[in-house]
Amino acid sequence: MLSFQELSANFNKQFDTEHFPSSPATLYEPGDYFLKIGGKRIRPVMCLLGNELFSEIHSDAYLVAKAVELFHNFSLVHDDMMDEANLRRGMPTVHTKYDSNTALLVGDVMLIRAYEFIQDIQPSYLPKILKIFNRTAREVCEGQQLDMDYSKSSVVTMDQYIHMITLKTSVLLAASLEVGAIIGGASENNCHHLYEFGKKIGIAFQIQDDYLDAFGDAAEFGKEVGGDIKQNKKTFLLLHALSVANQNQLAQLNELMQTNSSDKVEKVLSIFNECGVGAWAENLKAKYMQEAFEHLEAIAVVSNRKQPLIELANYLMNRNK
Ligand code: IPE
Ligand code: IPE
Ligand code: MG
Ligand code: MG
Ligand code: MG
Repeated sequence: MLSFQELSANFNKQFDTEHFPSSPATLYEPGDYFLKIGGKRIRPVMCLLGNELFSEIHSDAYLVAKAVELFHNFSLVHDDMMDEANLRRGMPTVHTKYDSNTALLVGDVMLIRAYEFIQDIQPSYLPKILKIFNRTAREVCEGQQLDMDYSKSSVVTMDQYIHMITLKTSVLLAASLEVGAIIGGASENNCHHLYEFGKKIGIAFQIQDDYLDAFGDAAEFGKEVGGDIKQNKKTFLLLHALSVANQNQLAQLNELMQTNSSDKVEKVLSIFNECGVGAWAENLKAKYMQEAFEHLEAIAVVSNRKQPLIELANYLMNRNK
């Protein structure tokens, strides 16, 4: 069995090649630019891990892994336009380096490229994988719309937040593991528990992302810190602060959300700190990690095969980028 790092190196070797033709360069050069910056590539490695949990890695797992990474990059290019983000992976985003029309098409063409990889997998499980891929893609769009809707809404509950991040983020991590498991020949019950494991760590992953967006180190995180605050994103940080704030803090938060002043981020961060959002985040992540590990336990394979998944979960929870 290969470790997370070894699988990651194998995937990168296969993925870091040309994905697009040369012309028109005005479309494909920006696409290459974005893919070459890299990223952590956790989702494709999750496809490989899902396969490896049950049997030796099949070449189809690499095709699905490439499709998932391309889908993810498509979602990021469009997400950065929606979030008006200028920086990603430490570099200018596609719509800022080029323009919005280019970024729209770069995202579209990445999505199409993802389906081109899927169409080459073995016909015996193609329908099943396509079904999961399509359902997941639709859910990501739904989650992204809820994220936008909530940023304009003043009343969002913690349950709504968890539902939204499940859709926009965690189902893709869950599906990555599941499609790998299907290629690996896993039983339906094992697929179910692996999917649920992915969903729970996916929720904890987005909680960590939201935490880093407020409190991360900009150089390491590679995105503009405070971006979510500027956009009035209804992250658990804000929801928790709103629920425990005293009258004075509440009035300040509500006023800050109406403004775009230059000290908005700094002021909101200090209220977040006063409200103890850091400790609360740790508890929330721990709760989802615990639930994730219950599903991992329930998967009927010898426990030493699960080691790389435990490594993955721990890496995701303790990351700074
Ligand atoms: C960013 O995902 C989008 C989220 C769902 C939080 P990653 O943190 O996996 O981004 P890259 O691919 O490593 O840059
Ligand atoms: C984005 O969530 C999830 C998707 C791209 C589908 P965020 O908006 O929090 O992701 P980042 O922080 O920009 O990577
Ligand atoms: Mg974003
Ligand atoms: Mg977003
Ligand atoms: Mg974020």
